[in-house]
Amino acid sequence: MIRPIILHPDPRLKKTSAEINDLSDDLRTLADDMLETMYAAPGIGLAAPQIGVLTRLIVLDCEKSDEQAPRPIAMFNPRIIASSDEKSAFDEGCLSIPDQYAEVIRPAEVEVAWIDPNGNEQSEVFTDLWATCVQHEIDHLDGKLFIDYLKPLKRQMITRKMVKLKRERAREKA
Ligand code: NI
Repeated sequence: MIRPIILHPDPRLKKTSAEINDLSDDLRTLADDMLETMYAAPGIGLAAPQIGVLTRLIVLDCEKSDEQAPRPIAMFNPRIIASSDEKSAFDEGCLSIPDQYAEVIRPAEVEVAWIDPNGNEQSEVFTDLWATCVQHEIDHLDGKLFIDYLKPLKRQMITRKMVKLKRERAREKA
């Protein structure tokens, strides 16, 4: 089921999400819904707070080119266990901040540990777009958006545009 994505600014996007202690079928269904929502958007990553659920769950699939098979990953309680000193810069966007992009510098490589939908502990080293995406999504679980890395003026400009967009959308619905 496709879930509505919350748009910035929204207090739910600024909250710290809760650790998962018990991997229930409801949470597995939530992960499936999030993947469906992400692919439909379309996007390469989505975090549970973006659909209003303040729990530590992210989904991603950064295999963007058509030649690559899809690689949907759902991560429960993801955490970064190592980061490279080397940095890389990507133009980031966010499904909660549509049509706004800005360069963010992050570690080029990260090792991430998480629990998979079967309850097994996993870990993997991610590079390139995957590294950026997984860091961006984990940030969401701590109430952090990519615009929080930008200079205040740029951040305010994007936020003003988003306030206007939300107002327009609310008017369309009315
Ligand atoms: Ni995002």
